[in-house]
Amino acid sequence: MTQCTCVVGLQWGDEAKGKIVDLLAEEHDIVVRFNGGANAGHTVVADGRVHKLSLIPTGILRSEVTSVIANGVVIYPPRFLEEVAQLEASGIIVGQRLLVSDRAHVIFPYHLEEEKAGAGCAAEVIGTTGRGVGPCYQDKVGRISAIRVAELLDADHLRRRLEEIVPRKNRLLQALGAGTSMFCAEELACEYAAYGERMRSYVADTVRYLHQALQQGRRILFEAAQGTLLDVDHGTYPFVTSSHSSAAGLWSGSGVPATRVGRIVGVVKAYSTRVGAGPFPTELDDAIGEKIRQTGREYGTVTGRPRRCGWFDAVAVRYAAAVSGATELAVMLLDVLSELEQVAIGVAYELDGERIDYMPATSVQLARCRPVLEWLPGWKRDLGSVRRPEDLPGAARRYLDRLSQLVGLPVRLASVGPDRRQTIRW
Ligand code: GDP
Ligand code: IMO
Ligand code: MG
Repeated sequence: MTQCTCVVGLQWGDEAKGKIVDLLAEEHDIVVRFNGGANAGHTVVADGRVHKLSLIPTGILRSEVTSVIANGVVIYPPRFLEEVAQLEASGIIVGQRLLVSDRAHVIFPYHLEEEKAGAGCAAEVIGTTGRGVGPCYQDKVGRISAIRVAELLDADHLRRRLEEIVPRKNRLLQALGAGTSMFCAEELACEYAAYGERMRSYVADTVRYLHQALQQGRRILFEAAQGTLLDVDHGTYPFVTSSHSSAAGLWSGSGVPATRVGRIVGVVKAYSTRVGAGPFPTELDDAIGEKIRQTGREYGTVTGRPRRCGWFDAVAVRYAAAVSGATELAVMLLDVLSELEQVAIGVAYELDGERIDYMPATSVQLARCRPVLEWLPGWKRDLGSVRRPEDLPGAARRYLDRLSQLVGLPVRLASVGPDRRQTIRW
């Protein structure tokens, strides 16, 4: 048994990481979110109830687990407080089981405005989620205008910082053509100091906490948001998110060295989806794509947008598995393909008349790639009640075997429905 495990998406997000984190949380003491913010939407169906988590780690659903929002996450305080209140209203006691890093960065309303201000903004070009995540990370890297959670706890200091930052932000927004959205430093300082007071009991030095936990032999599960193909360095840039959403983000985003992590579960759908803009070689813009969207209820948890659907892309997943260091695969939503006569897998690309088996460097090239498809027979059987590998139809087993062979990793888990119990383990 390894002390630390990471759950990471190997596609463009929404691979059903939430379901896997919830399952594995049972065997862990601590669950850590290390990247992104409320752009994530993780759904868990447990005992007939649907739980939707955005900023708070999925571990919060397990009463014995401590959840940690680590330094790499960006936090919009009103959203954080709302999510805590929603959880408590549904009977989940948050209390001392949730820690928020004092080094995490804070999203302000001007970040939300920046994201959507003016022609050619990120919301328009990339199809971002509108949660202010990108502009907040921009400020973090720029250093001059960023505010960390610890700074919310000192009202005088916070006011001084905002008196410097807000006029700059107002000038920027005006230049971008969002002139009506002017902010007042004093008002924001009061509002955010009040959030700070309401968050105070959760704020901690989470790096120290996690290192002490490691020394005590406690087991830690890391929950990546988004997916490896949306990673700011390794994804389909610029159609990516602004954080390290591959397993690479774990080290910088939590302060726990990756050398401590023995198991990396790469989560994939049995097909592919993508929300927002960007190249997607195996996309199905036809009746099969629509069928997958309807059967899989492929509409975004955060924005409600229809997700683009397509065949499993083994080239992209093999690349993502390598970048994230995945040690095994969890193949999710296998049941969604059950009604199809035949299923296809993208096994290579054709780029400018040449067959390639790797992801090209640029999104311009990837957009020119045509998928080389391999067809396999469908299984035409409802899988919702299958619980053991030997009860899977032969065609479904052969499909999983082929995915495993193409990606080069063993399939240790397959999911045949949203519920915790609809899971097959090897
Ligand atoms: P995440 O962001 O990676 O956690 O994934 P999302 O929660 O955004 O999207 C996955 C969706 O698929 C959720 O609505 C889950 O309840 C649902 N889901 C998870 N596993 C399965 C499965 O095996 N079959 C089906 N049909 N739905 C599933
Ligand atoms: P989970 O954790 C799917 C996508 C957005 C957009 C791009 C950048 O639920 O898998 P951002 O708001 O992050 O600047 O948007 O990334 N995106 C996601 N797609 N699942 C997510 O999270 C996503 N988070 C961001 O649609 O294309
Ligand atoms: Mg999601």
